[in-house]
Amino acid sequence: MKNILLLPGDGIGPEIMAEAEKVLHLLQEQAGLAVALDYADLGGCAVDASGEPYPEATRAKARAADAVLLACVGGPKWDNLPRAQRPETGLLAIRADLGLFANLRPAHVMDALIDRSALKAERVRGLDILIVRELTGGIYFGQPRGIETNAAGEREGYNTLRYSESEVRRIARVAFEAARGRQKRLCSIDKMNVLESSQLWRETVAAVAADYPDVALTHMLVDNAAMQLVRDPRQFDVIVTGNLFGDILSDEASMLTGSIGLLPSASLRDDGVGLFEPVHGSAPDIAGQGSANPYAMLLSLAMLLRHSLQEESLAWLLENAVKESISQGYRSADIVADGQQAYSTTAIGDAVCREMEAALARSV
Ligand code: IPM
Ligand code: MN
Repeated sequence: MKNILLLPGDGIGPEIMAEAEKVLHLLQEQAGLAVALDYADLGGCAVDASGEPYPEATRAKARAADAVLLACVGGPKWDNLPRAQRPETGLLAIRADLGLFANLRPAHVMDALIDRSALKAERVRGLDILIVRELTGGIYFGQPRGIETNAAGEREGYNTLRYSESEVRRIARVAFEAARGRQKRLCSIDKMNVLESSQLWRETVAAVAADYPDVALTHMLVDNAAMQLVRDPRQFDVIVTGNLFGDILSDEASMLTGSIGLLPSASLRDDGVGLFEPVHGSAPDIAGQGSANPYAMLLSLAMLLRHSLQEESLAWLLENAVKESISQGYRSADIVADGQQAYSTTAIGDAVCREMEAALARSV
């Protein structure tokens, strides 16, 4: 029996998590998935309940879990709190606490949604990129950091971008391994023309490449990469990059697929324990309306099945049910074309469950 911790979080989080729970229950009842589900607070809801965005009770459950499924955190209600109490601080804290250094963010253009891409169809047809983002280092966590008053009496904010060789090596290995299972092309993205940390990053990734002679490694500066992602995104197979560049480039890549509401992510460490969450935020503007797109949440659950539970065939079943539902026209408001009907969060979750039930019935 594996333990899965569910963190519905804030904003649209509880609505999209409810659809993931439907799928989990279906898999428990109809596919023999042996998992125990538990719940905890993270983010703004945790601040409201206990004053902290990553409270001790959540930490204890997260440390004991085989996998964590998170919806999303944050919202205007908590924006003016001190940094230690911000919902985002809770998210960064759970990533660091669990040691989840490898963030996988696949961006894949589905044929049925090619009209929704921000780029012309001929540039993105068949697009399939995997961004491997370093998640527990870099400028997000570097010390010293702060806001202080300088000698001239002016306030000054500062952060530190720091990467050690071992941090770069381990994320590079994850990316090379992923490339091995795909088209065997890896592009490492940095800013080595300006930053020493990037110079070390590039040297270190190049050294790891010696262990992967079957993978073609290239390097690209981040400003050029941002341009190439919209000029000719299909040149990329796997991308590996640091925490901040990966954050920015993954949002950019989401627009190639049509909506950030479609992108899942997996945050992993070496033993397979992981936290799985959509790339998107908590969308407070549409929270409570039942109109949120649950597909990224469901695809994140598929990544959980694959990476933490080694249930590849169930992961595939869920991904396929998502594709089928989208092909049948079950689109949320963020991905409808002019004149098309937008379906509610629950109607989409139900459609995915029907697809899965039908596929399970066919397979017995
Ligand atoms: C993401 C988010 C987070 C990040 C925020 C909410 C802290 O933007 O997962 O991409 O910057 O990592
Ligand atoms: Mn982000």
